[in-house]
Amino acid sequence: MSNVFVIGATGKIGKRLGPMLVSAGHNVTGLSRSSANDNWYQQNQVASVNGDIIDISVEELSDLMAGHDVVVFSAGAAGSGLDRTQAIDGDGPVKVIEAMKRNNIRRLYLVSAFPEAGRKKDLGEGFEFYMEVKKQADAEVAATSLDWVIVRPGTLLDEEGDGAVSLGKAIPYGTVKRGNVAKVLASLIDLPLIRREIIELTDGDEAVDVALSNFAKA
Ligand SMILES: NC(=O)c1ccc[n+]([C@@H]2O[C@H](COP(=O)([O-])OP(=O)(O)OC[C@H]3O[C@@H](n4cnc5c(N)ncnc54)[C@H](OP(=O)(O)O)[C@@H]3O)[C@@H](O)[C@H]2O)c1
Repeated sequence: MSNVFVIGATGKIGKRLGPMLVSAGHNVTGLSRSSANDNWYQQNQVASVNGDIIDISVEELSDLMAGHDVVVFSAGAAGSGLDRTQAIDGDGPVKVIEAMKRNNIRRLYLVSAFPEAGRKKDLGEGFEFYMEVKKQADAEVAATSLDWVIVRPGTLLDEEGDGAVSLGKAIPYGTVKRGNVAKVLASLIDLPLIRREIIELTDGDEAVDVALSNFAKA
């Protein structure tokens, strides 16, 4: 059983992940920026602490994270502007790393982006910047001595998971159901031996547990 701190707990991935972790016996706490989600937290037995990753200080975040042993970062600016993309997707993980170090928390799971997403689609300056910032955050995390796992999902579909995925260090680009991303994160949290890895993820035809077991063996 782990004490899991989730940034982005009420996002479309986070809302699927939290209940999975709770049913697996973990204690889950979300960083909540709005009381609008209070009912969801109560109904799903996920604890919440108030904070906004944009303006929270490292010291405040560190205090909120005390007592946890796993951190998941699945927050995102979701196209709400370049400044917010930098502050949430870029600077957020950097604050998280520092807060984890202060608490001696070792395990971090970062939801990043698939490098080939949006290529040749001319999705505009905002998307290009988003991809750049996501890569910077990956580099910040990978440069630490933490036990990190960076998950790079393909383009997300807002669907429940059927548990059939393709994953590996480098795989062809594709889409992935958010429910499958949540399942992979939940399973990874129960497989601490998989650490310091970047995992690309799409929908596929392997069961999550089999795919992760094959990944671990490889
Ligand atoms: N869209 C794609 O195709 C795609 C592909 C690959 C990876 N990703 C990445 O996947 C991750 C999760 O995706 P998703 O679909 O679950 O995202 P989402 O539904 O947009 O959820 C984002 C989460 O971040 C939280 N958040 C936003 N601003 C915040 C702030 N200032 N302080 C604290 N929390 C804040 C939101 O809180 P509230 O609930 O309060 O709004 C929400 O819980 C993101 O990092 C995204 O970049 C997306």
